Amino acid sequence: MKTTIWDVRDYTNNLADYPKLSEIVDIYRQGGLISLPTETVYGLGADATNEQAVQGIYQAKGRPSDNPLIVHIYDAEQMDDFVAHVSEATQKLMDAFWPGPITFILPLKRGYLCESVSGGLDSIAVRMPSHPVARALLKEVALPIAAPSANLSGRPSPTTFEHVYHDLNGRINGIIHSTQSEAGLESTVLDCTTFPFRIARPGTITRSMLDDILPNAIDNMHFDNDEKPIAPGMKYKHYAPETPLKIFHTLSYQINVTQRDWSRIAFILPSSMTSLVPENAHIIELSESEGDIEAANHNLYAALHQLDQIAQIDCAYIYGYPDNAEAEALHNRMVKAANHQYVKEVW
Ligand code: TXA
Ligand code: MG
Repeated sequence: MKTTIWDVRDYTNNLADYPKLSEIVDIYRQGGLISLPTETVYGLGADATNEQAVQGIYQAKGRPSDNPLIVHIYDAEQMDDFVAHVSEATQKLMDAFWPGPITFILPLKRGYLCESVSGGLDSIAVRMPSHPVARALLKEVALPIAAPSANLSGRPSPTTFEHVYHDLNGRINGIIHSTQSEAGLESTVLDCTTFPFRIARPGTITRSMLDDILPNAIDNMHFDNDEKPIAPGMKYKHYAPETPLKIFHTLSYQINVTQRDWSRIAFILPSSMTSLVPENAHIIELSESEGDIEAANHNLYAALHQLDQIAQIDCAYIYGYPDNAEAEALHNRMVKAANHQYVKEVW
């Protein structure tokens, strides 16, 4: 399949003026698959009411079909067609965080969306993205758009056009070339079908941000990466780079530089720590300081993709960052990327 590329970087805030907008819209309406930018990661979008289009998403990604998709909307009124009920508490959170990087799991009203979007569940995941290109597109298409992250299943999520192109060129109808995703990690997924609400996937909208709007409504379970997942997608091995990755917390000051061939090793860490790394090793910087979680979130997936571009390396070490509430999503993704592998100290 030929994949068309639409470069909209000059139209970020005025997509309506982009000359080929109607071409994109037509392809969506005809059931095509197009990758679109969002503020979290790039998505692979298709008409959520078109069974064949949605099957195409699962095929293009190589994704198991028991893993349901998120439906993206422009206007809350669109939910009337496919959501059975929005509680007052849920509404408060929507008012506070939409448009933005949070997905709500809500009771499904059957009949409007195609069956496989929800993977046979009684609930449906809904998100209203804030990215100006995504918003303009959703408004123009005027259809709910199902969109998982635009990566091959099991690969890190894409935060740039190049990441999408690498994984899906030739497998989908088109890719919208926009700027790097701002948040950098996938949306927070909040299950609102039970009370208290449960965080099914941590994201950049943190537990404390939710608590501030709605005290005592969020289940305070610690997010356990091994627990039976609420979001089916969390049970799959995820976000893994091809290079074996380990998490470290300390770099020894007395690294024995002759002990290993450091040119075959990469470090992913804050700039403030690079002076401790042996000269020959590869360095990928995630943030300036170890306290800058926002920057680390933003850069994590690009760093994992970059890692796989380095020829001939044996393994990589990623700094574990402070284990605090703000870093819950960062840790969640990092632990998965490293497949739970830790080292006490790199020497
Ligand atoms: O930031 C994001 O959420 C991105 C952008 C493109 O919007 N999308 C994304 O989609 O990350 P995906 O498919 O990669 O992840 C969706 C997650 C999966 O873990 C899935 O299992 C879960 O949401 N999910 C979807 N529907 C669900 C449901 N009804 N109940 C529980 N979990 C659900
Ligand atoms: Mg994904």
